[in-house]
Amino acid sequence: MSAPEQTRIIFKHIDEEGYSNDIACYQKHGGYEMLKQAVTKKPEDIREEVKKSGLRGRGGAGFSCGLKWSFVDRKSGKPIYLIVNADESEPGTFKDRYIIHQDPHQLIEGTMISCWANDVKQAYIYIRGEFPEGARILEKAIQEARDAGFVGKNILGTDYSCDIFVHRGAGAYICGEETGLIESLEGKRANPRIKPPYFPAVLGLYQCPTIVNNVETLCHVKHIMDMGADEYLKIGTPNNTGTRILCVSGHVKKPGYYEFACGDVTLGQLLYDVCGGPREGRTFKAVIPGGSSAKILRFGEKFTLKNKDGSTREIGVEDIPMDFDTLAACGTMGGSGGVIVMDDSVNIVEALANINAFYSHESCGQCTPCREGSLWMKKISSRMVHGDARPEDGELLKSVADQIAGRTICAFGEACSWPTQSYVLKFGDEFKAYPEAKKNKSADALELI
Ligand code: NAI
Ligand code: SF4
Repeated sequence: MSAPEQTRIIFKHIDEEGYSNDIACYQKHGGYEMLKQAVTKKPEDIREEVKKSGLRGRGGAGFSCGLKWSFVDRKSGKPIYLIVNADESEPGTFKDRYIIHQDPHQLIEGTMISCWANDVKQAYIYIRGEFPEGARILEKAIQEARDAGFVGKNILGTDYSCDIFVHRGAGAYICGEETGLIESLEGKRANPRIKPPYFPAVLGLYQCPTIVNNVETLCHVKHIMDMGADEYLKIGTPNNTGTRILCVSGHVKKPGYYEFACGDVTLGQLLYDVCGGPREGRTFKAVIPGGSSAKILRFGEKFTLKNKDGSTREIGVEDIPMDFDTLAACGTMGGSGGVIVMDDSVNIVEALANINAFYSHESCGQCTPCREGSLWMKKISSRMVHGDARPEDGELLKSVADQIAGRTICAFGEACSWPTQSYVLKFGDEFKAYPEAKKNKSADALELI
């Protein structure tokens, strides 16, 4: 069965000449018309529409955007802030960077509509330090929007004023965790805060109510305004509405960015039909469907899913529709939309060693299980790939991971445990065979470790 057509909402004009550096080009295609409409509407009506649309966060957690907005403490008398999370650091994820580079005004318009809807007077775009070009493009685009009256004082001649500031991170993965991000924005080390009580909706930036939304999520707000919640609900599947950008990297012939209605395309269609299948002479071995933190899937494994009528059905990896709920039912997650493909040239033990080195480096170190556990996982993995592997190391690694997940301040604890837990569970045979296999290999261990 061939793949369905892409449904391009966010990417509709993404490859058009002039979009990234010319507000006039954006306006030619109806740009900022939705903001013009928004400021004539009651903020609470827009919030209601976003809630009704079922929009779920595209940063990783898939939390309802409308619900998140509804948690905002509007009675505190304090200012409400909106932060655009453009810290895109999840390995395998590169969609937000593309939106910022190619269509910055779409993000600015979505942000301004969301600011109006939530009575926000000051918004920040927190962009990762490794995106200097993105920061430059945004600064220029915001100035263009300011000059045109879409950002800043008395927006579109109303008495509503709201400005957007770009803030560059300094290159730490944990700055993408929303409370770590807020600490960083306040000028401190990005140590995540304990939630609750520090849910940003109540106690966020400068202890004021704060909304933190991902770049892609805020772009969707503009389109919900445009088509209305009822039309938006028709895209995707119930509880998985709208489109998702899938960034495919690794061992496929055509890696890249693809936008599909949620659940429209299966993993098999995506990898074989859209991305051209495996490289010549290779077969697919494993895939991580939602950024490096998501649990790995092994080609050949089966999942039992429940049908609406209560009966069950069995599906393989290739049959999984790419939506939040089905991926969760298969024991993994859609996460940030980063699909990382591994073919049979990959040694799973060494792939995990690479990931463990990354997480150990990025742990902020506040929680003992995460700080020590991620370091021990790195040390064990490193010892293995440097020639001193033991058949029981897989189980040892997993026992460390099992002591981290669920025992930490932030979701990084899960993010660093899930790869080890799932790699060992699904490729236990390779971990056991690794010491023998390694003896026959040259000492070409990963330089990273
Ligand atoms: P989470 O599930 O803890 O929270 C989701 C959102 O809902 C947050 O904004 C939170 O403040 C809000 N929320 C939840 N319950 C609430 C309540 N009772 N009251 C008020 N607000 C509430 O997940 P989190 O930590 O925000 O994100 C974890 C995900 O981030 C991971 O699944 C991972 O995939 C993803 N991630 C993405 C990265 C990227 O580069 N895009 C980088 C690293 C991780
Ligand atoms: Fe820091 Fe890890 Fe604890 Fe998160 S889980 S606060 S990254 S030590």
